[in-house]
Amino acid sequence: MTQITRRLLAATSLAALGLPRQAGAQSSAFPTRPITMVIPFAAGGPTDVVGRLLAEAMSRDLGQPVVVENTTGAGGTLGAQRVATARPDGYTILLHHIGMGVIPTMYRRLAYDPVNGFEPLGLVTEVPMTVVTRKDIPANNLTELLSYMKSQGDRFNLADAGIGSSSALCGALLSNAIGVKPTVIPFRGTGPAMQEILGGRVDLLCDQTTQTTEHIRSGAVKVFATPSRTRIGTLPEIPTTAEAGLPGFEVTVWHGLYAPKGTPAPICARLTQSLQAALREPRVIERFSAIGTTPVSQDDATAEAHRRFWTADIAKWKPVIEATGSYAD
Ligand code: MLT
Repeated sequence: MTQITRRLLAATSLAALGLPRQAGAQSSAFPTRPITMVIPFAAGGPTDVVGRLLAEAMSRDLGQPVVVENTTGAGGTLGAQRVATARPDGYTILLHHIGMGVIPTMYRRLAYDPVNGFEPLGLVTEVPMTVVTRKDIPANNLTELLSYMKSQGDRFNLADAGIGSSSALCGALLSNAIGVKPTVIPFRGTGPAMQEILGGRVDLLCDQTTQTTEHIRSGAVKVFATPSRTRIGTLPEIPTTAEAGLPGFEVTVWHGLYAPKGTPAPICARLTQSLQAALREPRVIERFSAIGTTPVSQDDATAEAHRRFWTADIAKWKPVIEATGSYAD
């Protein structure tokens, strides 16, 4: 066989696989340069903490740096847009959370497709939320907190990370459940929002245990409940919202990894493989556990499981958002 015949045969088999020649050539060596992992919320916050742990472990597996870029704003949609519109070559990926389940309904106008703009690569972890306040709030249980909120009206402040974030979702559900309209102060992530709670300048924040655990344990914030079905293993003294008197109100944050739509299948498969390797690493499991979370199973860290879960989550939140009218526009 001549060299030309061999090249022709190789090109034909790549075409049969539906891969552009360039992408096929790249995927066999992928990655050959650093990968950017976009995190759509502020550095130092809960999504950032999970993303940086993952990026570090994936770098070890891929043999190339996975560099975190915090593209923040508009409730996580700017970061998602950055990835949906990036070159689909595997060098720009997104670590996002439950926002991927609510944004498709909450945002009726976006400059990117919040569902078909991505290839899901695998789920990462689930993190419970907690309702916390500045430590000197005059309430000692959820019932007292809710009556204080009612008595204060819009003088009561609630911080969040913008419409589309988990803190905003949880804050809106809480406010709707008791029929109050507090003043909402949006930040680019709950990392900066937490600083305002710690400084006593903002009243309430719904936030993930990956950030709140240390402040709850040190007494720097007051905690009232977790909007979960069951109590949190690492913070068992905190009642669920239902136990504390507010049933029918649950938000748990899940995280997933994405590539832009059209990223070649072999590259997506390599990224999924790397995600799985990262979640198996004992030091990752240990560090996740130290921040109160557990990596998902290897079966859930797959594109198929991620797509199923994500699709079901969009369907789950659609009627809730429609009923509360919590739209971004
Ligand atoms: C963050 O990382 O800042 C949070 O996950 C944002 C949020 O969803 O509240």
